[in-house]
Amino acid sequence: MLRDVNCGELRAKDDGKVISLAGWVRKIRDHGEIIFIDLWDRYGVTQVVFSHEDFDLKEVKKLGLEWVIAVSGKVRKRPPDMKNKDMPTGEIEVYASGLEILNASEVPPFVVQEDIQAEKELRFKYRYLDLRRHKALNGFIIRHKLMQAARRVLNERYFLEVETPILATPTPEGARDFLVPSRLQSGKFYSLAQSPQLYKQILMVGGFDKYYQFSKSFRDEDMRGDRQLEFTQIDLEMSFAEKEDIFAIGEDLMVSFFQEALGKKISTPFAKLTYREVMEKYGTDRPDLRNPLVIEDYSAPSKSGDFGILNSAGMIKGIKIKGSFSRSEIGRFEEIVKDSGAKGLLYLVNDGGNYKGSFVKYFKDFSVFNLEDGEMLFLIAGDKAGEVLVPLGDLRDALCKKLELLDEGWKFLWVTDFPLFEWDEENNCWIPCHHIFTEPVSFVEDSDETPGEIIGKQYDLVLNGVELGSGSIRCHNPEIQLKLMKIIGINEKEAMNKFGFLLKALSLGAPPHGGIGLGFDRICMLLAGENSITDVIAFPKTLSGLGLMEGSPGSVNDEDLKELHLEIKKGE
Ligand code: AMO
Repeated sequence: MLRDVNCGELRAKDDGKVISLAGWVRKIRDHGEIIFIDLWDRYGVTQVVFSHEDFDLKEVKKLGLEWVIAVSGKVRKRPPDMKNKDMPTGEIEVYASGLEILNASEVPPFVVQEDIQAEKELRFKYRYLDLRRHKALNGFIIRHKLMQAARRVLNERYFLEVETPILATPTPEGARDFLVPSRLQSGKFYSLAQSPQLYKQILMVGGFDKYYQFSKSFRDEDMRGDRQLEFTQIDLEMSFAEKEDIFAIGEDLMVSFFQEALGKKISTPFAKLTYREVMEKYGTDRPDLRNPLVIEDYSAPSKSGDFGILNSAGMIKGIKIKGSFSRSEIGRFEEIVKDSGAKGLLYLVNDGGNYKGSFVKYFKDFSVFNLEDGEMLFLIAGDKAGEVLVPLGDLRDALCKKLELLDEGWKFLWVTDFPLFEWDEENNCWIPCHHIFTEPVSFVEDSDETPGEIIGKQYDLVLNGVELGSGSIRCHNPEIQLKLMKIIGINEKEAMNKFGFLLKALSLGAPPHGGIGLGFDRICMLLAGENSITDVIAFPKTLSGLGLMEGSPGSVNDEDLKELHLEIKKGE
């Protein structure tokens, strides 16, 4: 046996035992006649002592950092003044009597320690060294525990775990597809599933009643801290479900996750606000409720002066704070709001009854703004949400950060009643807010409602400003489904071509159904206390889509391309 104990388990009670253990050489302290080695494995670190009295140190002096060794020896309690309270094994050390070098290591490209100093790129290239740390492992231990907990919760509630194809056909989930050329069907492509959306709906038509899966989703979209090209969802669907049924399952999952990862009891039911409410109050559909600042309406006071910009604006909203900022700080806030669509930023400060700000000359009576001494008001005027509420949402985040107002804790929120469609300025068309398979709250054909006014049975789960999940009650009526497709420019012929299988299934006994996709990487990231999902994904891609360790994406030779009926144009 190479080992009979691991590097994390020996304690004072093991004093005198003869053991063998194996691991990586993490630290070497060479005092000439005695050499101390910290031996590392997944479970902990144990100090091993090689003494010239019972050991030929020549072999030990060859060892380098990250060499893989097996050691046998006797456990000894450390003298009281040598105990290390910071290490669980700090009461003991192992006096080595045998050493086997299992594998040498080249000098590592960076020092492997809990807090690695190296650049992200280098760490991604040598991901196995980056992972060989307890801090890195922690995120994966949490991920593993949450996966088991999710299975427990869902299995107990009669959900069936079913796998669906990854090689799928393009569906409009809002992102660009990854396409896979078919060798057997010349000129045709699969798309890697952006989510199992249609398959899970069809499982409901198949009578499965309750389905779940840890689904890999593939989306060719710009990456950031909480977005990867491939990611994992806890994807679930239920027949005969109303949104409250999905909320209950989502909350059960979250309760068990917090219990499992942090031993923490969270209270349910979670807060609920409609899309309209969160946009008006927070300027975003995924507000961080730990931020106490809110957006308020200032239309009436703003129009009591003589300021043309305010008098002619359709919408005037603002955020009030305690304190004030320098000109240059205000300038930076103005840049932030302009970047997110505002035409400008106005401000007013009550400084001991003296009012200062960017529009004081247009007002005689400032009491209408209701500012207490030492308070400051930021105002944005405009005609639509994109010019006013969204920029104020970004300002709300920036002010909270600057004033350090963020509360501790976990603030869950269900956002409900999203509009079904939004206007895509770039392409001049209506696009679905979530996806086109969501059922409208009510849908009256030939009504005066513009598509933007139709509310869908969509809901998002938000935690501390992160969108953890999104789902909806689906449209199970093929005629309405077809009409919804028409709104986004998919005519009947195209609909039958692309989604004929779904429409047919909906016309052959589809139960009402709904579900949710929970972003599993994001959940693990938050519960592991990390800022990026790359900390809970074993082999993530860089922001430019590279797998630096394995060198993906790679080139293929002409032979392989020919088999796939593809040709790369030279020079491109
Ligand atoms: P949606 O597209 O909103 O819904 O995705 C569900 C959840 O998955 C997470 N997520 C991501 N995580 C990491 N990287 C990404 N690129 C990424 N994109 C999304 C988010 C998000 O809330 N089929 C529907 C679900 C349904 O309607 O049941 C869907 O995929 O946390």
